[in-house]
Amino acid sequence: MKNNKEPNILFSSQQIHDRLVVMVNEIEKDYRDKDLVVVAVLKGSVLFLADLVRGFSRPLAFDFIGVSSYGNSRTSLGVINLSKQISIDIRDKDVLVVDDILDSGRTLGWVKEHLCKFGPRSVKICVLLKKEVERVIEVEADYVGFTLADVFVYGYGLDYRDRYRHLPYIAKLGDDEVPPGETVDE
Ligand code: XMP
Repeated sequence: MKNNKEPNILFSSQQIHDRLVVMVNEIEKDYRDKDLVVVAVLKGSVLFLADLVRGFSRPLAFDFIGVSSYGNSRTSLGVINLSKQISIDIRDKDVLVVDDILDSGRTLGWVKEHLCKFGPRSVKICVLLKKEVERVIEVEADYVGFTLADVFVYGYGLDYRDRYRHLPYIAKLGDDEVPPGETVDE
């Protein structure tokens, strides 16, 4: 394992900020006259959600759903576990699911199907990142911040071994690398 001196930044804080301004405009236009409820997927979406909703000038509600997919530090095993149920009524509401990244599609596929059981008027998906990979579960994102190749990324909500979510940028990590500052196992 290699310990990089500097993070390999894919999307800077400024790039993320600029992209969010454009996304909010688009979403606001589409949800004009609608009863918008944003459901954010814990924990990866938290920074994205906070920055996104602050751009809205129209009223909205937001809530969280907690799901985890068991796996090691970089890969998911694909077993979805509900760790926090939504706590507001979404019946007849226009729901926008917000998540950090669309990868295999398992998480968002599961979340969308789960939320549909509560009788919302509509469910759309908004992700900051979309990986250009073949989806295991067919699910489309309606709003996408950035697309990226099949690389592991961390920062701005995304973790490496549950750390680094606080970073204001998104960095990529090679297969044999750990983030700067991380202890390298011998
Ligand atoms: P799926 O495969 O279900 O992935 O679409 C969604 C969840 O998996 C996590 N994920 C990542 N986390 N760097 C991360 O830190 C990555 O490159 C990455 N790819 C997937 C993430 O929690 C996401 O919500």
